[in-house]
Amino acid sequence: MPRSLISILDLSIPELDDLIATANDIIENPAKYAEACKGKKLATLFYEPSTRTRLSFEAAMLELGGSVLGFSEATSSSASKGESVADTAKVISCYADIIAMRHPRDGAPFVAAQNATIPVINAGDGGHNHPTQTLTDLLTISREKGRLDHLTVGLCGDLKYGRTVHSLIEAMSRYEGVRFVLISPEELKVPDYIKYEVMDKHATPYEETADLEAALPELDILYMTRIQRERFADPYEYERLKDSYVLTPEKLERAKADMAILHPLPRVNEISVRVDDDPRACYFRQALCGKYIRMALIYKLLQETDQPSPSKIHPADYLVNVIQCKNPRCITNVEQELDQVYYPVNPEHGIYRCLYCEEKAKYTEN
Ligand code: CP
Repeated sequence: MPRSLISILDLSIPELDDLIATANDIIENPAKYAEACKGKKLATLFYEPSTRTRLSFEAAMLELGGSVLGFSEATSSSASKGESVADTAKVISCYADIIAMRHPRDGAPFVAAQNATIPVINAGDGGHNHPTQTLTDLLTISREKGRLDHLTVGLCGDLKYGRTVHSLIEAMSRYEGVRFVLISPEELKVPDYIKYEVMDKHATPYEETADLEAALPELDILYMTRIQRERFADPYEYERLKDSYVLTPEKLERAKADMAILHPLPRVNEISVRVDDDPRACYFRQALCGKYIRMALIYKLLQETDQPSPSKIHPADYLVNVIQCKNPRCITNVEQELDQVYYPVNPEHGIYRCLYCEEKAKYTEN
């Protein structure tokens, strides 16, 4: 059975290190991998816009000697006629060897992985996860700083809806000596579950602030993010917050000489173009790293065909069709035939999470 990548937590630290080592080997020895996936097909199923993720996946597969098919918007697929993610995954399994899926609904790639007979890679699901961006970020940080541990990492911008931020915190909290400075307006702070169930669980120190300039001098990494218009229900709220942070050369005078500036891109105005020539600006090198780490991931997943798929038989302590997910972006609220499944987090206190989108719910029998 195929192995998929839905969350960065699907990968252990040794597996992350192995992917980074493989990506570095691909960078050093591209000819060695030029036919590594010859005869294999990647399906890129993109229900939401993308430049980097889709095209770097496609470039990655082509440079591995494979080929690519797919769609770049939901309207050009049968999703526009009401086809479910599960049916799409079953059908694409007949045509391709591996899927990369981006979807606006939290949990959609998880549904695909449960129904496909080929590996599924989450290429971004709603405001939830973006594990291949995190792999890209980890490769970039390891190449720029020479390590992934003992770093002070500033995350700035939309930390509430920023799926790249959530996945990066989940990954880097597992490395020793990492400390986060979470820089955001009050309205866009990191969700509680990331604080309590990720950083607190790993005893990862963090502080929250709205002041980018005050935080700059202590940072080894500054990870800037866009305020995402598409995640706001209220357009006035977006207008009010969209210019919260703009990084300029003047502000950077306060930063360390070797601080690395990352951004998953696209940017709007949160990094002035005047910063681009600063040697600390890594975001275009980061985009290139995205292609190499996706080459490593495709190569590895196509080798691992004997791993268990996510089971559809749920453990006895899961709640099935007991709680209705209240997250409007959850795939279960669009595709009504999906079971509502909650797993226990702290069952003594009745705390559960949606298996698809991780929305928290409180439930007690009486
Ligand atoms: N970083 C990122 O996911 O970019 P795209 O939306 O262009 O794929």
